[in-house]
Amino acid sequence: MAQGLNGEPNPANRAPSTSLPSTDGGSTGSLSRRQLIAQRRKSLPIADVEKRLVEEVRKHDTLIIVGETGSGKTTQIPQYLWNAEFCHDGKTIGVTQPRRVAAVTVSKRVAEECGVELGKQVGYSIRFDDMTSGLTRIKYMTDGLLLREALLDPYLSRYSVIIVDEAHERTVHTDVLLGLLKDVQKARSKSNCTADNSNIQLGNGIIFNKELGNSGGFKQQNSQKVLPLKVIIMSASLDARVFSDYFGGARAVHIQGRQFLVEILYTLHPQPDYLDSALITIFQIHLEEAPGDVLVFLTGQEEIESVERLIQERLRELPEGKRNVLTVPIFSSLPSEQQMRVFAATPPGFRKVILATNIAETSVTIPGIKYVVDPGFVKARSYDPVKGIESLIVIPTSKAQALQRSGRAGREGPGKCFRLYPESEFEKLEASTMPEIKRCNLSNVILQLKALGVDDVTGFDFIEKPPRASIVKSLEQLFLLGALTEDCKLSHPLGHQMARLPLDPIYSKALIQASQFNCLVEMLITVAMLSVESIFYAPAEKLDEARTAMKGFSSPDSDHITLINVFRAAEEFLEKRTGINKGKDEKILKKWCKENFINSRSLRHARDIHRQIKGHVGQMGLQISSCGEDMLQYRRCLAASFFLNAALRQPEGSYRALASGQVVQIHPSSILFRAKPDCIIFNELVQTNNKYIRSITRIDYLWLTELAPQYYTMEK
Ligand code: CDP
Ligand code: MG
Repeated sequence: MAQGLNGEPNPANRAPSTSLPSTDGGSTGSLSRRQLIAQRRKSLPIADVEKRLVEEVRKHDTLIIVGETGSGKTTQIPQYLWNAEFCHDGKTIGVTQPRRVAAVTVSKRVAEECGVELGKQVGYSIRFDDMTSGLTRIKYMTDGLLLREALLDPYLSRYSVIIVDEAHERTVHTDVLLGLLKDVQKARSKSNCTADNSNIQLGNGIIFNKELGNSGGFKQQNSQKVLPLKVIIMSASLDARVFSDYFGGARAVHIQGRQFLVEILYTLHPQPDYLDSALITIFQIHLEEAPGDVLVFLTGQEEIESVERLIQERLRELPEGKRNVLTVPIFSSLPSEQQMRVFAATPPGFRKVILATNIAETSVTIPGIKYVVDPGFVKARSYDPVKGIESLIVIPTSKAQALQRSGRAGREGPGKCFRLYPESEFEKLEASTMPEIKRCNLSNVILQLKALGVDDVTGFDFIEKPPRASIVKSLEQLFLLGALTEDCKLSHPLGHQMARLPLDPIYSKALIQASQFNCLVEMLITVAMLSVESIFYAPAEKLDEARTAMKGFSSPDSDHITLINVFRAAEEFLEKRTGINKGKDEKILKKWCKENFINSRSLRHARDIHRQIKGHVGQMGLQISSCGEDMLQYRRCLAASFFLNAALRQPEGSYRALASGQVVQIHPSSILFRAKPDCIIFNELVQTNNKYIRSITRIDYLWLTELAPQYYTMEK
């Protein structure tokens, strides 16, 4: 059972009267900013139990810490441990987060609290963005990133403590990481073990050798003594037992939080359009309720951006005195300097409306929220192991998620939560969300486990076993992509190369394939553009203009080529403006995007990703050349890379996906929506009322048998 860690009653505890915006510059009143920060830190519930927490960590190699969202776990515990000298010998405290945004915003906050520059003693590292240095002692990162680090440093020897934060989210990376940490802990607790010992094999089958870490020109690990690893698992929900059991009855402690009463309101009837219903509720709150910020839970970037536009439109219809609403979006792929806007103080006389994905459920605690609008939906991965198809679907939240969401309204005072569904529906929700490992394609994870030396994936000690059918299907896909040999070993060199790229195996394969087809320049752009959400946007009131703008970039054969055209047009536009500083470039590119109905946030993100993966493939020594005007060559390369996602037109105009037999429709946003070619490849399947495919290119059916004979000579 979780052990309570309630502190002595502390008067400061109940009166966090000074609110401290983290992005506000100077000083407030008579207190300096530093004093305010210190005061704010002291008033967090966790501050009362600092000493006892540090003691617990000293005593136990594995500790589970459960605490209410906002109690100070993520920002404070790493600082407590740093102060208590857990960074001996220059070691680092690593803190993993399931989401990029949390890693970035929290590290910024903690750097500020510590009074250091971000990237020095406190930093973050996420895929495609590293803000750390040799000095870094507290490092926030995504769980996926730490898994990749393990490929190069199997002992995780630079860390003295690993904190797995938000473990209740149970992302597939968190689950695999827990298994890995269990093994690393065992390996490191053996005395006299050094980072260059080779071939120690433990329970989970991870082989600790230095071969992988040193292959292909990566930095050599120093041969140095590795001390035992402390593992801390932190979670917002109350079910510590599953983690405790998994770590052999590990100690669990519970930190008492502060929660004010939240009034829950339901709708009388089910809402046919939850976005419309959310908009009405937002305005109802704004016009009728007392001051206080509003947090709205939406399912993704597209929804957030369309609701943001609709709010702006409706505000214009209100009398001037009522337009005092500030909308602030927050979602994972938001450029990092924009992410911090949610923490900025609301300007006097304004009401902030934060439009968030489920990131704001527990990962990111936003101050000032008094109202929560919860339509009750979340975007989740879903996997059909029989058909081998992964898709993103919008599903109802679980009860646990609904409770977390409403809790966000009661952090600083009593609040209200508007659930946009009838009360009877709440009772029908699942108690908690199913771990992601049970509903996603495992190819990526299996490839990484294989690279770590875990050959028997079914025998891996997962906290919860994924369905056997998913493992089998993913092994089959990896084999078809050439990453595995017939006896399920990582192939040379393809499998090893694929494991080194921080991408989905299918995209890694595409890049490697493209270097052989002389179109890696084009494929790098493609993979970067496919890695972000919605490059184009078409506001309802300017639909025709948006369509005309899109036509300017479009290729009759391909959404992929269309995306390349957009990327290149932006590059050309910027090239013409040489000699002007970067800050100005960004501004001008934003204007260009607006004129061309391009989503500037997405394009910026894609340009970032492009820069990074180009660096990776360069390091790997792949030939980066362009096919020039020969787009036929590029389309053939797409066919060779994405043959598992080929589809044939049916007589009535729908398509049959060849690998799964599923009947799908071309999404109306595709260039090929009307043309309906006979044979296509696609990159994305979205399930709403229909099964839609997106990111489509016309190919020739014969290319499949020619370029993917390992698959298409069978009677497909
Ligand atoms: O991890 P946990 O949910 O327990 O709390 P936390 O993320 O450590 O947050 C502690 C406090 O810091 C909360 O009051 C947050 O509002 C505040 N915080 C902030 O003001 N700015 C950030 N970037 C992160 C946290
Ligand atoms: Mg936290």
